[in-house]
Amino acid sequence: MHFFTLPILATIATFTYSAVAAPKAKPPAFFLAGDSTTAVQSAGGGGWGDGFLNTTLKNGATGKNFGHNGATTVSFRAGGDWANVLAAARSAAAKYSPYVTIQFGHNDQKPEKNISMADLTANLVKFVDEVRAVGATPILVTSLSRRKFSNGEVVESLADVTAAAKKAASKSKADIIDLNSASTKYLNSIGADNAATYNLNPTDFTHLNGEGSVVFGNLVATLIDAEVPEVKKYVVPVKDVAVALKAGKYIFPAAKS
Ligand SMILES: *[C@@H]1O[C@H](CO)[C@@H](O)[C@H](O)[C@H]1NC(C)=O
Ligand SMILES: *[C@@H]1O[C@H](CO)[C@@H](O)[C@H](O)[C@H]1NC(C)=O
Repeated sequence: MHFFTLPILATIATFTYSAVAAPKAKPPAFFLAGDSTTAVQSAGGGGWGDGFLNTTLKNGATGKNFGHNGATTVSFRAGGDWANVLAAARSAAAKYSPYVTIQFGHNDQKPEKNISMADLTANLVKFVDEVRAVGATPILVTSLSRRKFSNGEVVESLADVTAAAKKAASKSKADIIDLNSASTKYLNSIGADNAATYNLNPTDFTHLNGEGSVVFGNLVATLIDAEVPEVKKYVVPVKDVAVALKAGKYIFPAAKS
């Protein structure tokens, strides 16, 4: 009797194993939630989002920039942007593995917004929970450094909101990339004059022009690949930009679509 049943069991086991071991890989879709330092280049803002989406996504990966100029964690929800992000992530899930990047702080830290750092952490944790609830993966992002220098060093102005985002990541066990630290380090390495070439306009040391978007979008890509290695095949930094970032050397890449 055993001679007949064993091969059958072995066959069933083989089918079950291969079904579990080789699921059809879906390319990632990145939905970018944030303020003007993530947003599309425009008169009032411009961040790393479009540089990331335009130049680093390969092999069927896609994404959309939901960055909103002036947004806080409170206004992004109240104004309906957050619902749009969740809806996009939910509807992408059939064809893609959805990811939502979450970067807030530049406006949340303004005293007139009346958002405490404890509130900011709680708001970010809530975003993380809601991303997971629609079947997507959250990635917290600490705030892109401003490019104001004093005595040859970037003036650190985002320490409070960076700490709040790190606290949110540790509370929620979400992935986090420390864009604040990485961008500060790069800017310190290239110096004030080179850093200012990424300004949206000469006196705007917060928002990025197209070239700056490509530089810092590629920095985000390298950080995501390190933190979320399963997307590496799809998030491919532009080679010369990645080399310059790693070496701390100045680069001014053409903005392209
Ligand atoms: C600031 O927020 C606190 C806590 O939510 C609230 O009690 C206070 O009234 C707010 N202040 C202003 C000026 O909005
Ligand atoms: C990204 O692509 C769009 C659409 O082609 C283009 O309008 C925009 O200038 C590009 N931005 C960057 C930063 O590459």
